[in-house]
Amino acid sequence: MKKFKGLTFLAILMAFVLVVAGCNNGSGDSSVDVGIVLPTKDEPRWVQDEQRFKDALADSDYSTEILFSQGSSAKEKENVEALLNKGIKVLIITPHDGAAAASAVEAAKKEGVTVIAYDRLITDTDAVDYYVTFDSLAVGAAQAQYLVDNANGSDVPLYLYAGAASDNNAFLFFEGAWKVLQPKIADGTFKIANSSEAEALKDSADLSRDQLGKIIGQITTNWDANDAKNKAQTHLTAAKADLKGDVSILAPNDGTARSIADVFASDSAITKYFVTGQDAEKASIQYIIDEQQSMTVFKDVRTLVKDAMGMAVEVLDGNTPETTGSYDNGAVEVKAKQTNVIVVDKDNVKAELIDSKYYEASEFTGLE
Ligand code: GAL
Repeated sequence: MKKFKGLTFLAILMAFVLVVAGCNNGSGDSSVDVGIVLPTKDEPRWVQDEQRFKDALADSDYSTEILFSQGSSAKEKENVEALLNKGIKVLIITPHDGAAAASAVEAAKKEGVTVIAYDRLITDTDAVDYYVTFDSLAVGAAQAQYLVDNANGSDVPLYLYAGAASDNNAFLFFEGAWKVLQPKIADGTFKIANSSEAEALKDSADLSRDQLGKIIGQITTNWDANDAKNKAQTHLTAAKADLKGDVSILAPNDGTARSIADVFASDSAITKYFVTGQDAEKASIQYIIDEQQSMTVFKDVRTLVKDAMGMAVEVLDGNTPETTGSYDNGAVEVKAKQTNVIVVDKDNVKAELIDSKYYEASEFTGLE
């Protein structure tokens, strides 16, 4: 009898130890189903995504947590580890740097977590299960087509800018743009104003990854508005009169477009400029209404969030998510779901963004 009691006590003690150990797996909390890691709060694009995730998750049965990496791959890895400690089953992640993020998602894969790359692909690793994305080649093509449609005459100076070389999307955007621009450079509509690398490749319709890398390396903004501004200033300081007048500017996204536009607007030798953008950021919508930015490529983040969360829920429910294609990330073909984009300029801004209830009219001034 005594022995039995002792055993019971031991069993209770062991159970208690196990429960404590279970709770104390690094964070003291193991209740998050889906971890979401976004690259930075410093760009409005990702704050938009955070808000759209929050809206979509308001009545979800599953628990989620959103962390920001603030432009640091080290912080991104810490974020992923913190979420793994909370027991996530699915990781939705937009990498700061597509190649550097491989080690973070490999750590997640080791724990049996399903990894969904969100908007930006993670490259050179097999630890990515799915990719939800907009059609990034179409983004670049739409920007370029806008410049082509608005170019008058010949020898129009063409200023080229790109995103960060660490972001796979920057390659896709530029590749999509180049396919449309190159024939128009070849036929004399445009002349390249600010890139010797692009100039050297102007007869090639199809560029290899290395060739794209050379051009992007020269005209990168790093997705940073200040870098973009400094580059534009340097370019305009160097430009002779034949590279001024009416000009066309390929700017990769809204943040960089606004700062590049400000620089061009303040040069008295620039008589007119067309400048592209991307993301439909509120500040750029105002710029478009005020005719300081020509267009933006609207990526409806609500759809991307819905697709990513839809996939996560399928995985949590034990099903296989639906995909529509795949992307080669350098190591594997990643199954992907892709969403279309919409070109917005002054003519359709109200129909696309206000009437669709993406934004409220009261957030802008001068809307007709
Ligand atoms: C890209 C993204 C764009 C843009 C940019 C800068 O990867 O697709 O929407 O905002 O990053 O953050």
